[in-house]
Amino acid sequence: MDIYRKILVIGAQGQLGQEIMKVFAQYAPHGIAIEDLDLSCPPKVVEYLETFQPTLVINCAAYNDVDGAEINTSEPFLINAITPGYISKWCKEYAVPFVQYSTDYVFDGTHKNGYTEDVAPSPISVYAQSKALMEQLCAGSYIIRTSYIFGRGSSFNFVRAIINSAQSGKDLTVVDDQVHCYTHAHDLALQTKYILDHSLPVGIYHITNEGGMSLYGLAQIIVSLLGLANTITPVSTDEYYKGKTTPVAKRPLFSALINTKLPSMRSIKEALEEYIVSTKI
Ligand SMILES: NC(=O)c1ccc[n+]([C@@H]2O[C@H](COP(=O)([O-])OP(=O)(O)OC[C@H]3O[C@@H](n4cnc5c(N)ncnc54)[C@H](OP(=O)(O)O)[C@@H]3O)[C@@H](O)[C@H]2O)c1
Repeated sequence: MDIYRKILVIGAQGQLGQEIMKVFAQYAPHGIAIEDLDLSCPPKVVEYLETFQPTLVINCAAYNDVDGAEINTSEPFLINAITPGYISKWCKEYAVPFVQYSTDYVFDGTHKNGYTEDVAPSPISVYAQSKALMEQLCAGSYIIRTSYIFGRGSSFNFVRAIINSAQSGKDLTVVDDQVHCYTHAHDLALQTKYILDHSLPVGIYHITNEGGMSLYGLAQIIVSLLGLANTITPVSTDEYYKGKTTPVAKRPLFSALINTKLPSMRSIKEALEEYIVSTKI
């Protein structure tokens, strides 16, 4: 089967979804948004698949409000785990490849050398638990863990938030005790295509730009690439969230994803440079 004959991209308007649509454009993928198909209703999703009969499904949609998930606890499980589980099952029945995204947050952040693909999840928040459950329900599909995506579109992302604050001339206060990897949505889409182009085996993959660092370190690079000189004050995670009245999810302090299966990605600095230029910042 030519898997690119009838590609279905769910969540096509999100940061990653937009880049997936571009990277697969030559195959005229069918992109759908929440208005077309709401992942909070699994029977409707299965019905949609039965009718559309895709030859490849890439799910970029998710419940991504990490703090909101601490209050709104059932929705993340439904959208991030239960429905992807149904999609995975349908795809297996029809031998259709299915790509689903997961997160560095499935780890508790205590591995000081980072996380390879085979380390078992140890989630410490509701959002992370929902993604860890998805990894079980979607076993046998392509599960791509990624981290701190920055792309186009209206979704909040850390890089965009720092750029906005820096350009408005504000002094910045940024967490310095959380170390993560970061991912340009376009690079993630390209690397996803690499997996499919090469018919790599199903399983877990780690995709981020090269070079883990703290949020504070990343903010320093962004401000310098913008040619600005805002003062950036480092704070601990606890200090940063002190006084917040709504629940704050626990985040892993060290969540660097180690990629042992795919070609290396470009560095985070190169990716940021291109992001800043290409989004005409
Ligand atoms: N963003 C990150 O830093 C990050 C880090 C690790 C992993 N990931 C994972 O990577 C994937 C792509 O993330 P992203 O940053 O591109 O996400 P995003 O920009 O937030 O896009 C998610 C999309 O999902 C849609 N959506 C939300 N609820 C839905 C529902 N019930 N039914 C159908 N669509 C729904 C959203 O629509 P609306 O905008 O209309 O709500 C949005 O278009 C996701 O699986 C995410 O969990 C992201």
